[in-house]
Amino acid sequence: MSHDDFPTDDPAVVTCGLPYANGDLHIGHLRTYVGGDVYRRALERLGQETAFVSGSDMHGTPVAVNAEQEGVSPERFALDWHERYAATFPKFNVEFDNYGHTHDETNTELTQQLVRDLDEAGHLYEKEIMVAYDPVDDQFLPDRYVEGTCPYCGAHARGDECDEGCQRHLEPGEIENPESTITGNPAEYRERTHKFFEVSEFSEYLSGFLDRLEGTSNARNQPREWIEQGLQDWCITRDMDWGIDLPGENPQDLVLYVWVDAPIEYISSTKQYTDRVGADEFDWEAAWKEGASEEQPEGGEIVHVIGRDIIQHHTIFWPAMLEATDHTEPRAVMASGFVTLGGKGFSTSRDRAVWADEYLDEGFHPDPLRYYLATNGGFQQDVDFSWEKFRDRVNTELVGTVGNFLYRSLLFAHRNYDDAPIADGTSDEVEEAIEEAIEAFEAAVNDYSVRAVGDAVTDLARYGNEYIQRSEPWKLVDDDPEEAAQVIHDCVAIAKAIAVLFEPIAPEKAERLWDQLGEDGSVHEVTVEAAREGPAGDLAEPTELFEQIEDERVEALNEKLEARVAEAEDGGESDDADGGDESESGDADESDDDTTDDMTDIEPLSDDRIGFEDFQELDIRIGRIEEAEGIEGADDLLKLRVDLGAETRTIVAGLKQLHDVDDLPGTKVVVLANMEKAELFGVESNGMVLAAGEEADLLTTYGDAGPGTKVK
Ligand code: 2FM
Ligand code: ZN
Repeated sequence: MSHDDFPTDDPAVVTCGLPYANGDLHIGHLRTYVGGDVYRRALERLGQETAFVSGSDMHGTPVAVNAEQEGVSPERFALDWHERYAATFPKFNVEFDNYGHTHDETNTELTQQLVRDLDEAGHLYEKEIMVAYDPVDDQFLPDRYVEGTCPYCGAHARGDECDEGCQRHLEPGEIENPESTITGNPAEYRERTHKFFEVSEFSEYLSGFLDRLEGTSNARNQPREWIEQGLQDWCITRDMDWGIDLPGENPQDLVLYVWVDAPIEYISSTKQYTDRVGADEFDWEAAWKEGASEEQPEGGEIVHVIGRDIIQHHTIFWPAMLEATDHTEPRAVMASGFVTLGGKGFSTSRDRAVWADEYLDEGFHPDPLRYYLATNGGFQQDVDFSWEKFRDRVNTELVGTVGNFLYRSLLFAHRNYDDAPIADGTSDEVEEAIEEAIEAFEAAVNDYSVRAVGDAVTDLARYGNEYIQRSEPWKLVDDDPEEAAQVIHDCVAIAKAIAVLFEPIAPEKAERLWDQLGEDGSVHEVTVEAAREGPAGDLAEPTELFEQIEDERVEALNEKLEARVAEAEDGGESDDADGGDESESGDADESDDDTTDDMTDIEPLSDDRIGFEDFQELDIRIGRIEEAEGIEGADDLLKLRVDLGAETRTIVAGLKQLHDVDDLPGTKVVVLANMEKAELFGVESNGMVLAAGEEADLLTTYGDAGPGTKVK
């Protein structure tokens, strides 16, 4: 792996977190997969050799518990879901080079080999531990078979994770007041011998790894704290039948913990890709093994795209496993926020979800949803979906900005000139605008920002609209046909650049545009270089690329959703105390939890009115962040220097976990300037930065109000 800007000479592997094969996919689950697919396509548009892989996560208690409740074998149950996922992703233009599953032969072999390698390298040891056991049912209760109280924060928690509280990974034996999730019986603890991986020995390596790690800042900040708090070794075996057998001597018939074999599927899936296309096309060993290839001695560029609930596995356990077995260190982890639905969590049991298949069955094209999921906020921020918001963005940005520019330019060009190129070349001004868009696209890829990939295109289309409006070719056709031809040539050149740069976000629409432009081959095969070359093809009669969504449609969709939720609740399915019918596939599974419904409910508006005079007492100003840095010992706080026009102040704000510190300087913020001074961790805070919601979405300005401007 290099840390050079993309494109590099090393092969890249982009992976998406494996969905548990245990239930229907809703559009919240799709965020990670769309994000991964956009990122992979964007890399390829830069000319980066890339494999894009994932697979279904077949093992573990998330699958076994649900299969048991359905009364089918975990293998049958998981395979069914696997097949459905494999069919669903391409319908959203998420095109993996290989989509395998963790129970197949490749993954079983590679997992057992990697565990043997860990053992031979002396990184595994045995330890007696207490594990939960149901004495009535005579069965051990690993992970999600048991629930109880989190020993760290006191919240109700699953056996392996404090999903409703502090989000910590819990080791076997840690949960207090254990109860079986299947029978509700109180559990007891019994002594068993299990295998442990000495993750704690890798603390120093992991600190260095996090300093090198690229991607989203949340994937570095949280793990740094876990390391500071001291890493525990990791129990890698479970008392279950379903899973991959612990290799070697195994007197207790243990299987490997699902989180051992799941990430190894990233490697297995890449290997299957190579097995299919040949090592000349893509060499999995050159990508995954240090020293396997002379040309790539440090392996490939591994980029993991995941939900933020599984950061710990991808930045602690997994890189330690890779390092211990001479595999390539990941270059980047992109950890997405969750998706909520109308401000509340998705709830599979209450049917409060927009299902992936349902979205398509309603006749919507996948690309607008890809656009919405990829560009609605930064990747690590939560995204709220509502049919209204979806309509607004489709109508304003896709139809109003991008579609409008393309249709008006191409229709005019087709009617008047029929074929391109019309002028000798693209004008300097437009060439420069296209170059800027390409540079923004390249920067977006190197910043791991799928949103900025989309912005590069909408900004270019906005420019195109302004250019055609200002140039008025329809007036020039008679008066100055040569100039008219130049303007139209320029617009077709912009349209071609849009096709190339929009391919990652809207692959099918971009291909249709490519055809309308009469360009040869496929837009999926070209690089950004094609956007620099002027238009070459014979224009076809254009059609509108995106469809307007009508208000009545939105009303009908909302009614449908509400009726379904009411029906599910009437059916008595709203009691999820057993957690059993929750789908856990995909990464954004926090949003899949009914308990988030109450937590994210919008508070009623206050009736406690204040007078205008009271408001005027608040001295609210626009500020610009000049500097941002962490504060020793404070997990969440940042020390900011904020320019408030009249003076620059030090303000302490709880933004550390939620924003990339390096991105903050230059950001305009809204500041309560006459907030009482306060001392936090030894730093005097002189003002308060305003932010919205749990995610501390920073308030900023719409126009260009400068530092010191009063907010009124
Ligand atoms: O949390 C989950 O949904 C897991 N199935 C993700 C696995 S990702 C990987 F590392 F395998
Ligand atoms: Zn907890």
